[in-house]
Amino acid sequence: MVSEARVLIAPSVLSADFADLGRQVRAVTDAGADLIHVDVMDGVFVPAISFGEVVVDAIRANTDVPLNIHLMIQEPENLLSTFAKVESDQILVHAEACGHLHRTVSRIKDKGNQVGVALNPGTPVSAVEDVLSLLDIVMVMSVNPGASGQSFIPQSLDKIRRLKAIIGHAGCDTQIEVDGGIKADWTAQDSIKAGATILVAGSAIFNDRETIPEAMKGMRGCVLG
Ligand code: DX5
Ligand code: ZN
Repeated sequence: MVSEARVLIAPSVLSADFADLGRQVRAVTDAGADLIHVDVMDGVFVPAISFGEVVVDAIRANTDVPLNIHLMIQEPENLLSTFAKVESDQILVHAEACGHLHRTVSRIKDKGNQVGVALNPGTPVSAVEDVLSLLDIVMVMSVNPGASGQSFIPQSLDKIRRLKAIIGHAGCDTQIEVDGGIKADWTAQDSIKAGATILVAGSAIFNDRETIPEAMKGMRGCVLG
């Protein structure tokens, strides 16, 4: 076993075939996804635009697994009524995108959702220290956000270790999620050893080389060691 803690796998639908999205969401659900990672991009915080409320609703209608909604949106507080409307969904905002991070996080909690803060590769872990006690999740971006299929940035491992130490010192039960470049190899295993308990995987799950069940089986096997 790589870790005693149960590690959750969160396939990112950004790599799915959008012409066949409902079936792919059902397939990844049937294959044992713990969460469905949903990347909302606004073309401002990141260069690309991905999709919005209509597609998030369509994803939710095809699974009973909680959505892990990654808001790559400048000032996401303005859109909480759009994206934080189902209590079982987890809402992740970027520290860099929030002018009033404490207020934004508090408003998400008030809506009854689990809340996480994502950190870009260039953002220090200290950016979340003063809101840590409010957070269910801190998400370490192991690529610069904006696209699937990028390579894992190895320095992310040390960042996860430092975050784990800070969380332990604070006595919080905040989980560490890692997003970007995770494959069924050392990237997943070393992230878990460093302290991550939620793994996002896009192109490692939705690809042309293997079926979704095969990819999920490979990732689960790698996570279990
Ligand atoms: C990148 C997104 C990721 C992406 C991951 O900005 O936040 O969730 O879909 O894709 P892979 O696993 O292919 O790096
Ligand atoms: Zn993401």
